[in-house]
Amino acid sequence: MVAALILEPPLWARTQISIPAIWYSLLSFSMLSILAEMQHSSMDKLNLCVDNRYRLERRLGGGGFGVVYEGLCLETGKEVALKLEHVRIDPSILKNEIRIYEELAGGPGIPRVYWHGQEGEYRVMVFDLLGPSLEDLFNFCGRRFSLKTVLVLADQLISRFQYIHSKGFIHRDIKPENMLMGDGRKGNQVYVTDMGLGQKLRDRGENDARCWKISLTGTARYASINGHSGVEQSRRDDMESLGYVLLYFIHGSLPWQGLEAETQEQRDEFILEKKRAITIKELCGGLSKEFLNYFNHVRSLRFKDKPKYAYLRKLFRDLFLREGYKYDNVFDWTELKFLMAIQSSPSGQTDALL
Ligand SMILES: Nc1ncnc2c1ncn2[C@@H]1O[C@H](COP(=O)(O)OP(=O)(O)O)[C@@H](O)[C@H]1O
Ligand SMILES: [Mg+2]
Repeated sequence: MVAALILEPPLWARTQISIPAIWYSLLSFSMLSILAEMQHSSMDKLNLCVDNRYRLERRLGGGGFGVVYEGLCLETGKEVALKLEHVRIDPSILKNEIRIYEELAGGPGIPRVYWHGQEGEYRVMVFDLLGPSLEDLFNFCGRRFSLKTVLVLADQLISRFQYIHSKGFIHRDIKPENMLMGDGRKGNQVYVTDMGLGQKLRDRGENDARCWKISLTGTARYASINGHSGVEQSRRDDMESLGYVLLYFIHGSLPWQGLEAETQEQRDEFILEKKRAITIKELCGGLSKEFLNYFNHVRSLRFKDKPKYAYLRKLFRDLFLREGYKYDNVFDWTELKFLMAIQSSPSGQTDALL
């Protein structure tokens, strides 16, 4: 433990952390008291340290099975992220995530894991601290991205999934909240995170695609049609989900958002019905033919097929050039931050930004 810290008002001072009810039944008294302390709205100090080295500073997100904190390595002064999962979560999702990150280590846009182990009643992974998620940036930009921003993201993300697949894994929970921009000098690079639902590709046997399961893996909004239907997922499903994410960015929403239903299962069912009913042409309404071609390709893939990543990248690169865009690393949020900085500087000076 380290000396008390003065931190900026924590997240729970603004929005109450909601811990799923099941957690309470799993947590011991000691951990409950820590969590209660952490949730207390007047609390502005955190006194927790992992492996006597990593100091927890600020909650960044989470809510599924883990919680993510910003932290500091006391030995090196490096800022890090820490993901915590209670030891009674069985099977461990965090262990799966660590295993996958370790196998993907060194790939562009893959966070690096510095340490993992147990601290008290938590499994902990210490990894690269990244910037905002694409969902955060989407909100920041008024919930619409320009074609240019979408094309640059598409280019990077197709390569990310090509790399992940080349290492024999599929992600299975592709969504804007799990895609984060890098920090500092890696600020223009998209990272793929939250690999806890990732899986080793199982496409060697003959009957793999017939492996059925009961419920949807991942997030209904971006799930592939097969993902909804309980069919074992493969590379094609990641690419279909990525397509939905790109459409969400460019259209501002997806046609199956906001469907009324009594239960979650019913809503998932309605989403699947809508995905099945809508044609690719309707889905890509108002967009260049490249988006149609993207979906035609990924929806035509069979279970074991490798997507034509280079073809998909080329589609979007050709469109990028046709539109006359420049590869200048200027995203919608870069421009917006620049404009806001100009407006808030006393004399409209931009010297500090240049
Ligand atoms: N390495 C990181 N650096 C900065 N923020 C992060 C990092 N990892 C996760 N986050 C934030 O925490 C949120 C939840 O993390 P995630 O790994 O997706 O957990 P969950 O399984 O709860 O969705 C992310 O959407 C992001 O906002
Ligand atoms: Mg997540």
